[in-house]
Amino acid sequence: EYVWLDDKMIKRRDAKISFDDRGYYFGDGIYEVIRIYESKPFLWKEHMERFSRSAKEMDLSLPYSPEETETIVTDLIHRNNLQDGFVYFQVTRGIQPRDHLYTRDLKPVLTAFTREAEVPVQNQKNGIHLWVLEDIRWLRCDIKTINLLGNIMAKRKAEDNSCQEALQHREGVITEGSSSNIFFVKDGTLYTHPANHYILNGITRQHVVHLANARHIPVEEKAFTLQEASEADEIFITSTVQEIIPVTELKGEMEASFSPGPITRELQDDFRQSVQ
Ligand code: PDD
Repeated sequence: EYVWLDDKMIKRRDAKISFDDRGYYFGDGIYEVIRIYESKPFLWKEHMERFSRSAKEMDLSLPYSPEETETIVTDLIHRNNLQDGFVYFQVTRGIQPRDHLYTRDLKPVLTAFTREAEVPVQNQKNGIHLWVLEDIRWLRCDIKTINLLGNIMAKRKAEDNSCQEALQHREGVITEGSSSNIFFVKDGTLYTHPANHYILNGITRQHVVHLANARHIPVEEKAFTLQEASEADEIFITSTVQEIIPVTELKGEMEASFSPGPITRELQDDFRQSVQ
């Protein structure tokens, strides 16, 4: 298995990262996860646009152009003979003796790997449970940074309570999952949190909004409260690796049950069509 490190493709076991990498000290870097279907990246352009935006917001200069990055990723997919799965890549600000103050002359470090992953068909069919908890993250959740402490704490709490994902809220206003966006259906309208600083603007989220528009399902980018969530007709989550997964139970700070509904099913069907 091959990975990308700095400016070469090497065997995974030969990959060595610097002790003074700012990613290691500060989580000072950004990343993307892109789905690969039949050896082809899905929604590549959208992911690269978000990657560039994250870099800009972090005052981080990227080591490669989007075209060069695409070449690197494509080579890696082929070298590893990846059919279905995802590619992960991240860029850290570079190597510097530990200092909060970064300098602007650092050489950013790109690392990338691929992994096989099946579509989670069982969860897509039967749904999952969400653990409801407070969103304790910082206020720039729109940046796809590798600094994910709040997210991983939420995910662990969910798992510890037999839930597959978290549902985070700020003072009763629902933001997103630990590694997914959340959608609600009420009276035929689809609702999801507006793409502001409180959430990551998921590429799958944007794709689902397009699919809903094409079906003339009304979409409102409006945050839901916990109270509104308990009265929703359908709930589902979206992410690159999971696609669209219905939510059948909310547990923790509030409790409610749901069935996978017709709009969730239509969007799942449309999603499948769109990747084929
Ligand atoms: N996570 N919100 C958060 C906090 C996320 O980490 C993710 C994705 C999403 C969904 O975004 P997208 O549809 O672009 O995958 C929303 C990735 C998959 C991860 O960290 O592995």
